[in-house]
Amino acid sequence: MHSTTRRVLCALSDGKEHSGEGIAVRLDISRVAVWKHISELRKLGYDIASAAGKGHKLLHSPNTPYEAEVHRYLTPERLGTTIIYVEECDSTNALLKHKAEMNEAEGTVIVANVQSAGRGRRGRTWLAQPGQALLFSVLLRPPLPPRELFGLTLMAGVAAVEALLALGFEAKVKWPNDILLTGKKVCGILAEVNGEIDHTNYVVLGIGLNVTGHPHTHEYQCTDLSEHSSPPTRAKLLAALLQALDENYSLFLQGELPFIFDKWRTYSDTLGRSVTAITPRGTHTGLAKDINSEGALVLELLSGEKLLVTAGEVSVRLS
Ligand code: BTN
Repeated sequence: MHSTTRRVLCALSDGKEHSGEGIAVRLDISRVAVWKHISELRKLGYDIASAAGKGHKLLHSPNTPYEAEVHRYLTPERLGTTIIYVEECDSTNALLKHKAEMNEAEGTVIVANVQSAGRGRRGRTWLAQPGQALLFSVLLRPPLPPRELFGLTLMAGVAAVEALLALGFEAKVKWPNDILLTGKKVCGILAEVNGEIDHTNYVVLGIGLNVTGHPHTHEYQCTDLSEHSSPPTRAKLLAALLQALDENYSLFLQGELPFIFDKWRTYSDTLGRSVTAITPRGTHTGLAKDINSEGALVLELLSGEKLLVTAGEVSVRLS
């Protein structure tokens, strides 16, 4: 969206009537330009009433997470200052990785209406019908080596739970970072790291949230927000997620991982449950006792033996 179009939208975003002349003076543009940008907004799906002698009034915004729409709910300092909306791409993670290689700054977000090859964890695909999900990736450049990034995955889960709680959804987290509503998966998170042994180039954090529809998979049960309550617009959801990610990422960078892990324990749907971990070394069932200081899941096996389950090598099923 053109920056002046965005400023015209901001001028209208209180939902009140504004004269063309008032907007023109405020933005230091001509009245003809105001008309031009209003018709641009209409093309993007904004419903704007214009009456002679009265002015312009924003009646309805499209359910599209355009940058200007997200910035109505969020004034970002780090994450989400640049939000690139695309109608379709293969994968927002793949697209953002490409941008990261071209020196894109930390905090840039790519959000898509639909993905043709959405990626899930452990090589799975991530499915979502056009317009039914919030599909986005955020670029992070933490000044830490990859070995110190283990907490980021759980941090992202904590942020997603907090964003949904703030919007009235009783979200929980299943280890390491599947987000559940009434025990069914509503949101998945995929963190992809690029770096050398002692230096991280970038992390692409991809989040897929089912909003008005969800896939039917055999592997696990899914749900979407609309099955629980009337969902907010995707722009409002993205703003809430970026806000929560920004807060928790700041804590992470300040070395507050123990606090983040304590929040994870509070939101957990896994601890205290009997779980089955499928690892490359076999399948183990046991009681999920805790997460350790590195975010690994501590299982107490029937034999009484403790087993550490680390992210990336297992999938956990509540049994
Ligand atoms: C999982 O398997 O639970 C993780 C799913 C992550 C899906 C999101 S959708 C937006 C971003 N782009 C991708 O290709 N994947 C992530």
